[in-house]
Amino acid sequence: MGMVGGGSDAFIGAIHRRAAFMDNQIELVCGCFSVDPEISKSSGHSYYLPENRVYATYQEMFEREMQLSADQRMDFVSIVTPNKWHFEPAMMALERGFHVVLDKPMTFSLEEAYALQKKVEETGLTLALTHVYSAFPAVKEARIARGELGKLRRIYVEYPQGWLAERIELQGGNNAGWRTDPKRSGKAGCAGDIGTHAWHLSEYVTGLKVQELCGELTAFVPGRPIDDDCTAFMRYEGGVKGVLMASQIAVGEANDIRIRVYGEKGGIEWHVEDPNILIVKHLDRPEEHLLVGNGYMGDEAKWNTRTPGGHPEGFIEAFANIYRNFALTVMARSRGEKPCADCLDFPTVYDGVRGLQFIETIVKAGYDDTQKWVKWVE
Ligand SMILES: NC(=O)c1ccc[n+]([C@@H]2O[C@H](COP(=O)([O-])OP(=O)(O)OC[C@H]3O[C@@H](n4cnc5c(N)ncnc54)[C@H](O)[C@@H]3O)[C@@H](O)[C@H]2O)c1
Repeated sequence: MGMVGGGSDAFIGAIHRRAAFMDNQIELVCGCFSVDPEISKSSGHSYYLPENRVYATYQEMFEREMQLSADQRMDFVSIVTPNKWHFEPAMMALERGFHVVLDKPMTFSLEEAYALQKKVEETGLTLALTHVYSAFPAVKEARIARGELGKLRRIYVEYPQGWLAERIELQGGNNAGWRTDPKRSGKAGCAGDIGTHAWHLSEYVTGLKVQELCGELTAFVPGRPIDDDCTAFMRYEGGVKGVLMASQIAVGEANDIRIRVYGEKGGIEWHVEDPNILIVKHLDRPEEHLLVGNGYMGDEAKWNTRTPGGHPEGFIEAFANIYRNFALTVMARSRGEKPCADCLDFPTVYDGVRGLQFIETIVKAGYDDTQKWVKWVE
């Protein structure tokens, strides 16, 4: 694995590395870890990389890695930069035959997302997108449990955070800066940063696609040029209706993404701050709390679980599920074999395209008080 971003000046890159190493399938061999070459160098040094595999720019990294023999050079690149710098390194990687792991939202614009989809299809390379909440074992179980609910009716998906309740981006030295700058984050702020996670979780758990929505985007904090709060009524296939709420001004909230789904016969509930329990609700008997790591969980949950019940797993393990499944898929394909079904269970370029479509749709709907329902933008 090579990495773009994820230096000592970054948040999520370190989580990616810990996750990538967890199953002994992946090692870090090179990187351009920061937009600042000095930070890239010092970060690479602290990750015990040889100096000649730590690069000042990602352009240099791709060119120099290409000159190495196949057994020396990286096989794939993990891109963990702000949204504006997802497309170019991802495209450069695919054009040079490298597989890609990319964080969400996949690109800055929908046009870029379509271009990446086209390139993935042309090259046959593998692209994984780290919508991490769909990789928790209890969420895998939720997909199974939904079969007990009868015909689905109602989805509530919520993602409350409070860390942007004040204009901390003006203080500098934090990653609120690019998130609240439309030139670096893309058309949407909160809706793109965490709304996309909530939307993806709802489609993953139910297997249903949103067809139209009625949305509202708000920049509550004075002077902020982009939304810090997002709400939408969503209509899914089959007449299922949903409410999505994502906010970064919900004071006191940390990161409790939560989903509830109700059908004719029952309901399911999961939230990330208690990630190893799936609550299943019934019409005619008390609710059940299914605990990850127990023998009664389904095969999909078991495949994505590493410890016995009561030994907590969480965020980093969920990222590790994506990396492990991606690595097994890449290795199987490189041997000309078909990857196992569980190995293929990670978000791909198609989830990335839909994520950008979600952003387009909610931005179209979110500031327009004159129209109620907006069709999903394709
Ligand atoms: N999946 C998740 O749960 C999750 C969580 C957090 C962030 N993210 C996503 O991860 C990405 C990074 O977010 P973050 O919070 O870590 O940001 P950050 O600002 O903390 O870190 C960004 C890193 O990218 C580097 N960088 C910027 N431009 C670069 C360039 N041209 N070349 C090389 N490196 C460059 C920076 O120096 C820094 O090391 C974003 O797209 C964000 O949406 C996803």
